[in-house]
Amino acid sequence: MSTPREDHQPMTVYEAVGGEDTFVRLVARFYEGVAHDPVLRPLYPEEDLGPAEERFRLFLIQYWGGPRTYSDQRGHPRLRMRHAPFRVGARERDHWLAHMRAAMDDVALPAEFDRQIWEYMVYAAHSMVNVAEDAGPPARPATSAAPAAPAAQSSGDSGDSGEGDEPIRISLK
Ligand code: HEM
Repeated sequence: MSTPREDHQPMTVYEAVGGEDTFVRLVARFYEGVAHDPVLRPLYPEEDLGPAEERFRLFLIQYWGGPRTYSDQRGHPRLRMRHAPFRVGARERDHWLAHMRAAMDDVALPAEFDRQIWEYMVYAAHSMVNVAEDAGPPARPATSAAPAAPAAQSSGDSGDSGEGDEPIRISLK
């Protein structure tokens, strides 16, 4: 989305919400949440969350129309591929989104931009899920006359029970 500017250049969301300072605050607040989250914190490989915070901030800045520093440093985002080493299930996704919602509430963008960015976060977080628990029942050959009942989804949904818990390597672009 863009808003006309006096020089007729479209204003980016990045500019409209306050530029770098806004993204610094948003991502810093988000990582404060992650740092204390028993589900998410163990996923982050580095003891110092600072570099991860910077990568995420640079990505968001670029995504919303700011400088392309992220790609200069990291190349193509390939986010699903970059998340493949980490177990991202519904639980991790929902914790992630809860911290993002809290961060967005703190930053308190104008409603139009809050809605736009939040919708993106929800969509992106769902697309980052990479374990079977969210994939629904596995496709089975019809070996029995009995209709496939929902109970055929054998494993529990904690995702920690072994069976059906293999990561899905979602195809990557
Ligand atoms: C759904 C839950 C998510 C979890 C549990 C998660 C977890 C992680 C972890 C553990 C890393 C590695 C940290 C590092 O950079 O060293 C990472 C990296 C990253 N994540 Fe996520 N993430 C999630 C969703 C998202 C979403 C929705 C986005 C984008 C809107 C995103 C953007 C990024 C970026 C840009 C990086 C750095 C990639 C790079 O290496 O350049 N993540 N994430």
